[in-house]
Amino acid sequence: MFFRALPLVLVLIAAPVKAGEHAHQAVPREQRAAIYLTTEEKAHIHQEMRLFLSSTQKIVASAAANDMKGVAEAARAAGMAAAHDVPAKLREKLPMQFKKLGHLTHQGFDDLARDADSLGDASQALKQLGQVMGNCVSCHAVFRIETGKR
Ligand code: HEC
Repeated sequence: MFFRALPLVLVLIAAPVKAGEHAHQAVPREQRAAIYLTTEEKAHIHQEMRLFLSSTQKIVASAAANDMKGVAEAARAAGMAAAHDVPAKLREKLPMQFKKLGHLTHQGFDDLARDADSLGDASQALKQLGQVMGNCVSCHAVFRIETGKR
């Protein structure tokens, strides 16, 4: 009796283990490159990111309301002028690709601001925002920040 039931018992034992394995596989493995920073430097980057997010929100809302002055203002706030207060020590720690993508993003917002002013075209502004946001997506796919010792 016991031996006849054995296969069933094995299946019952094995099933939850397999389900557990599957759940483990569903969590994506961390593949982004770590940038090691101090807590303050991380806070600085995060603050800049929240400015990016807030400008993006204002651009979308203003474009939807056909408020092109609002679009230009919001985009300019995330432009090159906002990039200048990165401390030299932090700048040194950032990989070249990170700096390039960051630069392109600030520059893209400045271009968007200039074109919003001169063209006054909401759909053009949104098209440009879509392109600028390609940089957000690329950088987030590649980098993460760590504050512990490496
Ligand atoms: C040059 C690289 C880079 C670019 C470009 C970039 N980000 Fe980030 N972003 C990061 C990194 C790195 C983090 C922090 C991830 C971590 O803490 O591990 C981050 C975090 C954030 C956060 C979380 C901030 C917080 O306080 O928790 C937001 C929101 C964000 N980014 C929005 C954006 C938006 C919107 C854009 C584009 C307009 C953008 N980012 C462009 C690299 C970038």
